[in-house]
Order: sequence, then structure tokens, then C-alpha cells
Amino acid sequence: MALSHGAGHIPALGFGTLIPDAAATISATRDALEAGFRHFDCAERYRNELEVGEALQAGLAAGGIARKDIFVTTKLWNTNHRPERVKPAFEASLRRLGLNDLDLYLIHTPFAFQPGDDQDPRDPNGNILYDRGVTLLETWGAMESLVDSGRCRAIGLSDISLHELSPIYEAARIKPAVVQVEAHPYLPETELLEFCKAKDVVFLAFAPLGHGMRPGPLEDPVISAIAARVGKTAAQVLLAWAVQRGTALLTTPRTAARARENFNISALPQDALDEINRIQTRQRLNEVVKTGSPGFIPQGR
Ligand SMILES: NC(=O)c1ccc[n+]([C@@H]2O[C@H](COP(=O)([O-])OP(=O)(O)OC[C@H]3O[C@@H](n4cnc5c(N)ncnc54)[C@H](OP(=O)(O)O)[C@@H]3O)[C@@H](O)[C@H]2O)c1
Repeated sequence: MALSHGAGHIPALGFGTLIPDAAATISATRDALEAGFRHFDCAERYRNELEVGEALQAGLAAGGIARKDIFVTTKLWNTNHRPERVKPAFEASLRRLGLNDLDLYLIHTPFAFQPGDDQDPRDPNGNILYDRGVTLLETWGAMESLVDSGRCRAIGLSDISLHELSPIYEAARIKPAVVQVEAHPYLPETELLEFCKAKDVVFLAFAPLGHGMRPGPLEDPVISAIAARVGKTAAQVLLAWAVQRGTALLTTPRTAARARENFNISALPQDALDEINRIQTRQRLNEVVKTGSPGFIPQGR
């Protein structure tokens, strides 16, 4: 998919690196690269940029793949929203990833937390300590400077509502190229998607499999019936729907077999897309948009 302002292309199928275990991060990243994924989504907050970087360097060398053939994103955490903290945070991420430049840098959430080394600053009662001394537009200005410096091809936002995005979009000198939010048939975010299409912003869906939660989209009867009909798995049906409605996506297969499964998708017939679009269940699985504090809502698995 093309990025705005001639910033190149973003592969629609992305591999997400939100994997708590370091060894699993390395093996899953290598497996994803081998399966064909060329788009890797990272974050300072995931605390594993070092492992992702190591796996990517090794995988590129082993597979004879050039740096320019992969697309790497990482994200500015909430404690680094003060403009003077943005470039140092960006450079620290690049050092951990072992890269000289980045394809995409996102503001992880629109919430600024108290600046400092503690990623999760709280008061004695456990309440998040927000930083009221900086606006999102000020942080965006520092993100624009990274593009000016030539070390970051594109910038964008994550975990943001249409209501918060439109004023940033209007005021920005360099418009957001990508918006990353939760999206799947239970949370289609249609209004935001229409805005993105109209403004040439790539809509990047996370949790396209509903984060693997059961019950959830993977076990939805409509999805299962389509999967049986077209001879694909439920995961492949969900990922194909996401791409065919015009979004890029991030998925996190943790084994080589699932990496191959999730990469091997093909177009669904129109009647299947229509059926998925008619699903009425609505469910948000990650509450980060409400507080800036990440985490999927625990469900009965
Ligand atoms: N911006 C944000 O705030 C934010 C928030 C969340 C995520 N993200 C990004 O989005 C990425 C993807 O999110 P996600 O992990 O929720 O994606 P997802 O692909 O919807 O869910 C991943 C889960 O689905 C299961 N799974 C994967 N492939 C499967 C298959 N073929 N069949 C059945 N189950 C399968 C895995 O289960 P097993 O564990 O059993 O393998 C895994 O736990 C993250 O890694 C991260 O990069 C961003």
C-alpha cells in the first residue's frame, strides 16, 4: 500500500512483536521473516527491540534479504511526549533495533505520561500520572522534525479516535501517514476507515484475529462457515477480510506453521465479505484507547 507524500510502500501484511518472552520474540520474528513477512511492528514499550533487532539482522543475513526490503516501525512511548525527549527516544529505539533509519515512527498513544524512566508512572493509589504540560500537537511537531532529518520516512499515530485524529490531521505540516488501531469484525471502526481512505492515511489494524481470544472472531459461526466453504482457516478468512476492506494489518503468529498460515491468504468472494460486514457483535478487546495504559482485557479463554 502506498504511503502519503511519496514515503514509499507499506506491506499490507505486518508481523507484530508484542511478545513478552525474549526467546519467543527471537524465534517468532525469524519464523515470520522466513514465512515471507516483510513488515515488522515494534515498540519501545514492548521492551524487546533488542531481540527483534537481533532476529532481523540474523534473518536478513541468512536469507540474503536487504534492509531496504523490510519495513520497520517502532513507537514513541507515553513518557517521551515532551518534544525534547522525542529525538533521544527515537535514537534509543534505533540503537536497540540495530538500524540506521526507520520506515515508520508512531506516537504509541495520545496520552502523555509523566516524563522519566518509569514507563508506568503511578501515584501511591495506583492512578496513572499524566503529563498535562505537553499537547499532542507539540509532540507531533517533534515527530515532523524526525522526518525532516531524513532518518524516518513516515510518521503516524496509534490508539487514537477519529475525534482526536482530525485536529492533528488539520494542523499537521506533515500529515500522519498511518493510523494504527484495534480492528476486526467485532470492531470495524468504519468511520475512521472512511476518513483514512478519504485523506490518504493507511489504516493499520491490530488484533485482526481478536488477539486469539476465545470466544471471539476466530470462533464466530459466520467466520467458521465461510472458512469451511472456501477451504481456508478462520484466521486466514479474518486476515483476508482485513486486507480486502482496504486496511493493512498486524498479526502475531508465534510458531512457524502459523506464520506460514497467516501469510498464505487469498481473496474472499464478495458474498463472504458481505456476510462478515453484517456481523452485529461489537467488542473492544484492548482498553488502551481509554487510558493510554496498554493491555488486552482478560477474557475466559
Ligand atoms: N498500538 C497498540 O496499542 C497495540 C496494541 C496491541 C497490539 N499491537 C500490535 O499488533 C500486533 C498484533 O496484535 P495481536 O497480537 O492482538 O494480533 P492477533 O494476530 O489478532 O492475535 C495474536 C494471537 O492470535 C493467535 N493466533 C495467531 N495466529 C493464529 C492462527 N493462525 N490461528 C489461531 N490463532 C492464532 C496467537 O495465539 P498463540 O499465542 O496461541 O500463538 C496470538 O496470541 C501486536 O504484536 C503489536 O505489534 C498494537
